[in-house]
Amino acid sequence: MRGLTPLLCFVSLLPPSLSTILQNGQARDTRFVDSRIASIDANTTAWKTYGPNATELAYKGRWDSKHISWWAAPGLKVGFSGQHVAITFGEHTSPGVLVAYRVAGLDWQMTNVSSGTHQLVSPETPGLNRTVPSQLPLTLEMRVTNWAYGVQIAAVHVSSTSELIKVPNHAKTIEFIGDSLTSGMYATYEAFSGFGFGIGAGFGNIEYSITAYPGICLHDANCWGNPRGQTYQWFQTSDTSPRAAQIYGTEPERWNFDAHPKADIVLINLGTNDNNTANNLTSEQYISSYISFIPKVHKIHPDAQIILMSLWKGFSTVGNSYKQIGAFTDGIFQVYEHFKDEGYVHYFNSTGILQHNDYGPGSHPTDFGHIKIASHVMQYIRVKFGWEFGASGPEVQHETLYWNDQRDY
Ligand SMILES: *[C@@H]1O[C@H](CO)[C@@H](O)[C@H](O)[C@H]1NC(C)=O
Ligand SMILES: *[C@@H]1O[C@H](CO)[C@@H](O)[C@H](O)[C@H]1NC(C)=O
Ligand SMILES: *[C@@H]1O[C@H](CO)[C@@H](O)[C@H](O)[C@H]1NC(C)=O
Ligand SMILES: *[C@@H]1O[C@H](CO)[C@@H](O)[C@H](O)[C@H]1NC(C)=O
Ligand SMILES: *[C@@H]1O[C@H](CO)[C@@H](O)[C@H](O)[C@H]1NC(C)=O
Ligand SMILES: *[C@@H]1O[C@H](CO)[C@@H](O)[C@H](O)[C@H]1NC(C)=O
Ligand SMILES: *[C@@H]1O[C@H](CO)[C@@H](O)[C@H](O)[C@H]1NC(C)=O
Repeated sequence: MRGLTPLLCFVSLLPPSLSTILQNGQARDTRFVDSRIASIDANTTAWKTYGPNATELAYKGRWDSKHISWWAAPGLKVGFSGQHVAITFGEHTSPGVLVAYRVAGLDWQMTNVSSGTHQLVSPETPGLNRTVPSQLPLTLEMRVTNWAYGVQIAAVHVSSTSELIKVPNHAKTIEFIGDSLTSGMYATYEAFSGFGFGIGAGFGNIEYSITAYPGICLHDANCWGNPRGQTYQWFQTSDTSPRAAQIYGTEPERWNFDAHPKADIVLINLGTNDNNTANNLTSEQYISSYISFIPKVHKIHPDAQIILMSLWKGFSTVGNSYKQIGAFTDGIFQVYEHFKDEGYVHYFNSTGILQHNDYGPGSHPTDFGHIKIASHVMQYIRVKFGWEFGASGPEVQHETLYWNDQRDY
């Protein structure tokens, strides 16, 4: 019989790993947990092991039949008793992929994972001993921070006297259909800092799925190396990454919408790549694809309010000031007007939320830009559709604590 203690030593003895999160070209001072432990063999009496299809596990976003995650910030949530939770990641886990995880309302912690076993919860997990009975069972939530890399769940382990507990889904669901903007490209923690995550996690009381991938077009065309556009890819489980091409070639698994909760809101931010001359598309192709896409989304999510977000392509200097550059500015409004009388399509005018310094040199919003977009969209959804904010304090955006500690300068 192998006791728990020797296994746990791996967690507390190893120093936090060195890793690079870039912030304005400088390495950010980060503290990533080294969560790797020796593999847990099926015969050990110290752990109880659940397979990846255990009904207790709630997968968030898109995962395929092999329990491989796709798209931006996919997640896993489960309740547990006891003080030990470990996950064995399968061979299709991207080596060293950065995941965020948290217990209950504690702050997010970050750890790089690879195939093999990682222990995310132990008695040393900060704050674990502060639990009050009303917070039981504790929950573990994990999110992949990137949009192209992913993990594969092979098993979840708790101590042998403990168990996993199913955490019911929140009643409301939002689905994002987007590109690099929604998936947080060039934000410091990528998808985990992007406005898709900011809105979904920001509400605190909804489920969310971020089907967004950098460079992808709405129109079904090869854009920046993405072989297909969202009018095709959104119906598939996997994204347009090389990782997906390697596993599935040109025959991805179709996403089974009927096996998952229907969306109540679908937020679409697409067209910035269609609008780029490099991709050789016309405004007419974009608009007609958009007009044929919306009824298909509506058929799948018949009760969803579909919000079309206006686009921004950055800022240019005009004389001695700055001006936001739009993309398909009239076109998107035209698409909205086409469906206006049906009542389920809405137009979110994003002009004026971002200023030129909310935009990084990589032509994407900064972390602050993402937070501004997320905040405005959340308030729009609250006012327009009556969704209340359910987060009452737990951290959403990680490492955004900037403050002044001197009174008199
Ligand atoms: C696990 O237990 C089974 C049955 O007792 C045994 O055949 C097998 O060799 C054990 N495996 C390991 C890795 O110890
Ligand atoms: C999980 O998979 C195993 C092996 O494929 C199967 O025997 C079992 O019935 C599945 N359980 C659920 C809950 O689907
Ligand atoms: C951890 O993840 C970050 C972000 O992707 C990456 O920069 C770093 O190299 C990774 N570290 C390891 C040890 O894999
Ligand atoms: C929790 O553990 C920490 C570190 O061991 C300790 O400082 C703290 O007093 C404990 N809190 C409670 C409520 O037991
Ligand atoms: C766009 O058109 C140019 C000129 O015809 C061609 O060289 C290029 O390969 C095309 N790009 C794409 C993505 O189709
Ligand atoms: C991008 O959108 C603008 C309208 O906002 C339009 O004038 C321009 O022709 C579009 N460019 C491309 C390449 O689609
Ligand atoms: C969007 O907002 C901008 C700034 O307030 C405004 O100039 C523009 O007319 C609005 N567009 C639409 C379609 O309402």
